[in-house]
Amino acid sequence: MAKVEVDLAKIPEGKNLTIKWRGKPIFIRHRTPDEISEANSVQLSELKDPQTDAERTKNPEWLVMLGVCTHLGCVPIGEAGDYHGWYCPCHGSHYDISGRVRKGPAPLNLEVPEYSFENETKLVIG
Ligand code: FES
Repeated sequence: MAKVEVDLAKIPEGKNLTIKWRGKPIFIRHRTPDEISEANSVQLSELKDPQTDAERTKNPEWLVMLGVCTHLGCVPIGEAGDYHGWYCPCHGSHYDISGRVRKGPAPLNLEVPEYSFENETKLVIG
């Protein structure tokens, strides 16, 4: 299956980039140190789909996820919602800065695709 390369040097800290992969949106966020500590401060017992931030990232600076709401497949909006992450306007699901569902009808966290870092600035998805 096709892989996609992303130049990470083009995404400043605190910004999101959305690309297409296999016809679906992929969200890439260059997280700030504050966002990383916020993602790590959440207790697993607070989560509907318990996953640590470390289980969802290979390098905490970079969050890479499918931009497809796990409820019925709408595309969530970035930098929105009650948890400083993503908000799905279709039926009101809120995702945190690790892409974990925190409120609303979505049953699962935003899915993390297969990816790797080829070097410091090159991300390969797929
Ligand atoms: Fe996102 Fe329903 S599709 S909340």
